[in-house]
Amino acid sequence: MNVGVLVSGSGTNLQAILDAGARGQLGQARVVVVVSNVAGVRALERAEAAGVATAVLPHRQFPSRQAFDEALVATLRAQGVELVALAGFMRIVTPAFLQAFPQRVINVHPALLPAFPGIHAQKQALEYGARITGCSVHFVDEGCDTGPIIMQAAVPVLDGDDEAALTARILVEEHRLYPAAIRALADGRVTVDGRRVTVRP
Ligand code: GAR
Repeated sequence: MNVGVLVSGSGTNLQAILDAGARGQLGQARVVVVVSNVAGVRALERAEAAGVATAVLPHRQFPSRQAFDEALVATLRAQGVELVALAGFMRIVTPAFLQAFPQRVINVHPALLPAFPGIHAQKQALEYGARITGCSVHFVDEGCDTGPIIMQAAVPVLDGDDEAALTARILVEEHRLYPAAIRALADGRVTVDGRRVTVRP
């Protein structure tokens, strides 16, 4: 299964996926292209170091969200992408994008959805006073972090945590969970019934 990873920043989740692939832990999945909407980010360097094709599509250079997403679809299709993994990609995709890859766009989010969707999820958890938060891998739908949940992992909020400490603790779990979810999808072990997702062992 050809995977395209969309990024905007540091790309530590991308690295975890690439590392899992190098260890033979992604099953039939392999990353064929990494696309960023921001030039010069660390995620692109990580892709290049792994010998994976990259593309930069600066969203501000497109007249509309629709035009940006059409270019995104064309770039991914050109590489034969079958599964799209958003990994720190800080753009909301359009319905047309989702229709191009039905049930094949996934995201990792640094909270236990449906708690703390959107940006700064770790800060939201701290400000709310949550004692447990975590991360979620979910299908992307037309809402913001609202699609069916594939896998989640819980992470404690510790006394004295600041945003950086909590972010780092959650990332450890993201890096474990995201490759596992991609592998399950590539293995054909994931079925969706409405909102309920089953992942067979
Ligand atoms: C990750 O924590 C990811 O869950 C989050 O951005 C970070 C990207 O880190 N995504 C969101 O907040 C999406 N709403 P990375 O670039 O090092 O993988």
